[in-house]
Amino acid sequence: MQGTPARCPEELTRSRLKRLGEGIGKVVYASEHWVVKRERTPTEVVSLILLWKFLHRTAHHLPFGWGDRLLRHPSREIRFLRAVAHGLMIVLPKSLWYTTHVSTVLRRYVKHDRRGERLARAWLTGTDLLPQRVSFPPATVLVSGWPGWLVVSEATERVEATLDKWIDHLAASNRFDEVELWLNRLIDTRQAGWRAGLFSTDAHLKNFGVVRDRVVLLDTGGLTDRWSDISARLEKDEQIAEPHLKLGLGAALAGRPEIAARFNTRWKATVNRESVREHLPG
Ligand SMILES: Nc1ncnc2c1ncn2[C@@H]1O[C@H](COP(=O)(O)OP(=O)(O)O)[C@@H](O)[C@H]1O
Ligand SMILES: [Mg+2]
Repeated sequence: MQGTPARCPEELTRSRLKRLGEGIGKVVYASEHWVVKRERTPTEVVSLILLWKFLHRTAHHLPFGWGDRLLRHPSREIRFLRAVAHGLMIVLPKSLWYTTHVSTVLRRYVKHDRRGERLARAWLTGTDLLPQRVSFPPATVLVSGWPGWLVVSEATERVEATLDKWIDHLAASNRFDEVELWLNRLIDTRQAGWRAGLFSTDAHLKNFGVVRDRVVLLDTGGLTDRWSDISARLEKDEQIAEPHLKLGLGAALAGRPEIAARFNTRWKATVNRESVREHLPG
């Protein structure tokens, strides 16, 4: 249950935690059943934003398909490039990096992250749309890599897999009935969120996870209850011809165009202003 144990789960302090995943704003470390999150510093977030902008602009011009590979498999090389960017940011004047545009992006990111967190706490606590969370008095845990330790007062249930990895795994094992089932569950989870009054403007597969037979939202950043934000996002999304490609499902569904077509049909019939509006309360 949310917030019941008054102590940090023992397995979090038993040994050094491994890095499990990361996004623009957070690095996630895990023990067997729990994860804890470290918030990146603004400098880290800015170096990542700049790195992404650079990669997206130059990906197709880099030799040997490096850029495209980086965008598809971001973990290792991007971590290295980010370390370089971060280093440069420390030695070069701040004004160079905090150009108006970058600071706007950073502020928007932080604002959306905080707002999503607040909305999720208010409206989704205890629902099965989120993984379980526990709060406890601050505890120090050891983590791999820099800075080696972390003070946390909250832990989140570790999901079996993020949805992108789970779908790739099912597709690689030729379990396409299940691929389709889980894609439908993703849409079901999104609709349940809308019925609770919330819409995720950052709904990519890495931000969702698998818990038993459910899809849960891992990243509350980008959740909004404001129709102007929702409709602006949807107006853009409605232009997408093949949503499965945009969601990074191109490779998984390459051999199964009929599944891609069914998914795209349901997605388009659901993820649009009219349908979302019908689900929202009030
Ligand atoms: N409860 C969890 N179980 C397993 N992996 C998780 C969990 N929460 C987050 N992750 C992984 O960490 C990544 C980053 O976490 P997220 O909250 O999305 O941070 P950010 O705000 O930086 O995007 C996720 O995309 C996911 O891969
Ligand atoms: Mg995320």
